[in-house]
Amino acid sequence: MNIRMISKLAAGAAVIALTAGAVQAQEEVEVLHWWTSGGEAAALNVLKENLQKEGVGWKDMPVAGGSGVQAMTALRARVTSGDPPTAVQMLGFDIKDWAEMGVVGNLDELATQQGWDKVIPAALQEFSKYDGHWIAAPVNVHSTNWLWLNKAALDKAGGKAPENIDELIALLDKFKEQGITPLAHGGQPWQDGTLWESVVLSTGGMDFYKKAVIELDPESLSGDTMRKVFDTMSKLRTYFDPNFSGRDWNLSTALVIEGKAGAQQMGDWSKGEWLRAEKKPGTDFVCIRFPGTQGSVLFNSDQFVMFDIGEEKRDAQLKMASAVEDPAFQIAFNTVKGSVPARTDVPDTEFDDCGKKGMKDLAEAASGGTLAGSLAHGHAQPGAVKEAVFDVVTQHLNGQLTTEQALQRLPEAVAAAQ
Ligand code: GAL
Repeated sequence: MNIRMISKLAAGAAVIALTAGAVQAQEEVEVLHWWTSGGEAAALNVLKENLQKEGVGWKDMPVAGGSGVQAMTALRARVTSGDPPTAVQMLGFDIKDWAEMGVVGNLDELATQQGWDKVIPAALQEFSKYDGHWIAAPVNVHSTNWLWLNKAALDKAGGKAPENIDELIALLDKFKEQGITPLAHGGQPWQDGTLWESVVLSTGGMDFYKKAVIELDPESLSGDTMRKVFDTMSKLRTYFDPNFSGRDWNLSTALVIEGKAGAQQMGDWSKGEWLRAEKKPGTDFVCIRFPGTQGSVLFNSDQFVMFDIGEEKRDAQLKMASAVEDPAFQIAFNTVKGSVPARTDVPDTEFDDCGKKGMKDLAEAASGGTLAGSLAHGHAQPGAVKEAVFDVVTQHLNGQLTTEQALQRLPEAVAAAQ
């Protein structure tokens, strides 16, 4: 073999190696997400395994922090350094923001081929599409106005689920008498905001929620109904345990699971923790709409946004988006996660009673005009407004603002953030 032949062979080997490398790289997705609790990770595993069956590898980029606050910071750093991940878990207005920057991929072809237009509800399409183009694949629909109760504690307190704030307060008093923490709350701005939006909905009803939170009407943000909201927040604060500050949501759920606390106000991702602990709805725990919010649904939907990172990644991105919209996956994932399907054509048979209620409530709220986006989970306002509200709500809850001051601050902070 002469030198020329050897170098030709070597070049050929290099080409093969390169191609093999490219194929391997093509068939992997790097996924940025914040699903790090036990229930969340179990749900995400369903997707990982499905993709593996399709020959698509999974590079995990978990960024802990409920509601994705830290994940979005990590994403900004990755995009700024010119290295966005393949796919990113994202909520509502954040999707719009990234789409506006022109850095996300287009999923139109797949969406058309699979008829997404017909099966994804309009409330979700509002965020899955930008400028008429599909740019995200919705995984689920979560809802935030839920209350999770320890069944044994509830039974001991008489067994009646509270239907309004007064009944809730009476129940929390009974939990107090039992010597347990009445209300397990984690003091983080997004959790304070999640509690606040349920209290807003309960106090003023859906029309008021829409006026105050969606339309940002200054009078609604500072008037008598909002005064009641802040007074109720102060009252609820008296039922927290001394260690609530900064606690992650799933640790609060654990307190209720263990019977150390009676109840938790939280979105239905909380159910994922109960199921992970092998607890059953109706036997070990009870899921009810946050008292006074029956018939209304505040929703948020986790969606996967595919970043525009070149043709060689596209095949894996499309496989992932397609796996996410597969009806069988929608059942397998959402029954573990606590959410309900993002598609309207998935039967509820495999879902437990809380899941069935979630699906029914969502369909009824969508047709009856009592469905609205969750502020705390990115579906009511862009990030700046959401954070402005969090600031006021958290400071008030921590006693740094009186109700009077909060009522003055709220419309001011919101106006400044717009
Ligand atoms: C929500 C998200 C859920 C869950 C929760 C707690 O914003 O939609 O999937 O992860 O945060 O982290």
